[in-house]
Amino acid sequence: MKSSLFIKILKEKKLLLPPLSGYTDYPYRVILARFKPPFIITEMANARAIVQRNRRTMQILKIAEGKHYNGVQLVGSIPEFMGKAAEIVEDLGFDYLDINMGCTARKVTCRGEGVSLMKNERHACEIVAAVTNAVDVPVTCKLRLGTSKQSINVVSLSQKLIDAGAVSLTIHGRSGEKKFGSRVDLDIIKKTATALSAPIIANGGIYTGLDAQKILKETGASAVMPGRGLLGNPWIVPEILNILSKHSYTSPILQQKKDICLEHLRLLTEFYGERRAVLKMRSILPHYFSSCLFLKKLKKDVQQVTEVKHIPILLERIQNDGMNTIYRT
Ligand SMILES: Cc1cc2nc3c(=O)[nH]c(=O)nc-3n(C[C@H](O)[C@H](O)[C@H](O)COP(=O)(O)O)c2cc1C
Repeated sequence: MKSSLFIKILKEKKLLLPPLSGYTDYPYRVILARFKPPFIITEMANARAIVQRNRRTMQILKIAEGKHYNGVQLVGSIPEFMGKAAEIVEDLGFDYLDINMGCTARKVTCRGEGVSLMKNERHACEIVAAVTNAVDVPVTCKLRLGTSKQSINVVSLSQKLIDAGAVSLTIHGRSGEKKFGSRVDLDIIKKTATALSAPIIANGGIYTGLDAQKILKETGASAVMPGRGLLGNPWIVPEILNILSKHSYTSPILQQKKDICLEHLRLLTEFYGERRAVLKMRSILPHYFSSCLFLKKLKKDVQQVTEVKHIPILLERIQNDGMNTIYRT
């Protein structure tokens, strides 16, 4: 994919989907593809593990077919590995690459990866240069405001990353020490979008089409990226696309949620086998029914599930009761 085409579609559709470790795996990307987003990206994949062809990491890199463009997110801090991994994923057929500069998980930051890259601007740029020199596809970065509230450097770093070869940046509007629940700083995203000629993608706290519309307006970003709003909610794709293009949008009914959840289970089972599918469903299923009354009980019950065949029985207990969705105990 050419950079000019990537930017054209980004600006036209204004929506990119997020990398979500443990969630945007191949089975969920197959589901997402049916909702026709312009772009779909993998969860983060470790560059060294790609170069070493680690089996689980290579599983992350299976491409979900569809009309969308496929992205892959690389995490790493050694330019040589990042460049080599970039070549490998380009050969696999990915259309664009994203570099993780925002992950705060300890196992990532202790290796100088993820948000730690924001601390050393020169090193972050070396990584971008190593990746952009290795491939022809567009390269983007996903970063936070800074590693902590005392070291906000997203505005200065962004320009350097673009100069090093990145075509666009996603800004998660929180700093590295902040929990996901904390406020998103739209002002700093706006400052970055104003300072840069390259397109900025705003991320953080987007759960609805209206959130997307508001954040675009308040930040002047070119596009949005929801995060947790995508968990158990592929309908956020048509919701955002329809609202931004001034079309109407109808929320899914309970039966549609159950159908997609069961399809998700089927794909997980096919891809990972029954044991891993059940383990994954324990965290995924409650997201599909997050507005359900007695969600706590549903979350508890799903932890007891040991076989795939128990899950449809659990879903039967979720019903509409007047205006509410109820989990019958
Ligand atoms: C379960 C989970 C997994 C995530 N995995 C990744 C990841 O692999 N790469 C990444 O750059 N960000 C990852 N993120 C961060 C999200 O992409 C997003 O930046 C963050 O959730 C903020 O958006 P939100 O406030 O709308 O959730 C993850 C977040 C969550 C909750």
